[in-house]
Amino acid sequence: MRLADAGPDGETHLDPAEQARAAGITAPVARRDFLAGRIALRAFAAGILGVRPGELTADYSCPDCGTGPELDHGRPGYRLHGAPAGLILSLSRSRGWALLAAGRAGAARETGTAGMTIGVDLEHSAGVMFPEFDDVALTAAERQLLVALPPEKAIPWRASAWARKEALLKAHGTGLRIDPASVEAFAESADGTVVLDLDTVALGLPAGFAAALAIVEMA
Ligand SMILES: CC(C)(COP(=O)(O)OP(=O)(O)OC[C@H]1O[C@@H](n2cnc3c(N)ncnc32)[C@H](O)[C@@H]1OP(=O)(O)O)[C@@H](O)C(=O)NCCC(=O)NCCS
Repeated sequence: MRLADAGPDGETHLDPAEQARAAGITAPVARRDFLAGRIALRAFAAGILGVRPGELTADYSCPDCGTGPELDHGRPGYRLHGAPAGLILSLSRSRGWALLAAGRAGAARETGTAGMTIGVDLEHSAGVMFPEFDDVALTAAERQLLVALPPEKAIPWRASAWARKEALLKAHGTGLRIDPASVEAFAESADGTVVLDLDTVALGLPAGFAAALAIVEMA
């Protein structure tokens, strides 16, 4: 979705920690995009659950800081009237656009695992066009793959690799606490982790974006 399409009145449904984080963002565009993303994700979750956005309470989790309504960052989640809302969620913003993803929590019973988590990421080609990108973002194997690509494919490939890495790191809940240059974006996983390139045309995105979804089964 376009961040500009998030309803402006949605801000009234945001929780105090979300309002406080927005208040701390001094750059107007970054603040507007942060608010729009939070409004959109809440409306998206409420729509799936068939409730009003104001019935949800933000319930983010961070590996360092814990979980709860006072947390203003980390893996997104909501509570509905005080109980877990039953959704797994992910969000990414890039250049005025947002990618939102949700799944039903509760796969644990069906799969015999602790459940699944998801991560999405949206990356524009312009975001990977800096000279140090390959050194900071790619594994040795990926740098070798890149050398074999025709020059016109190198930039979209980098954007796709980055989107896949960030989607994976969000699904694992760590974000960039893990060095992206240690994450294989295209490797087959032995633990059931799935990473998919999303069709940016079907998603209605303008040219230049790469988007990925990662699904991780928690042991
Ligand atoms: C996850 C991360 C890579 C995303 O950064 P980005 O590419 O600039 O931004 P995106 O728009 O793609 O994603 C932002 C969203 O990722 C999600 N997210 C943030 N941390 C996450 C985590 N640990 N696990 C899963 N999802 C996370 C949130 O929904 C966030 O939205 P918000 O801004 O409304 O809170 C980055 O935020 C990160 O590495 N975070 C971990 C480090 C950190 O947060 N440190 C400070 C707190 S201790």
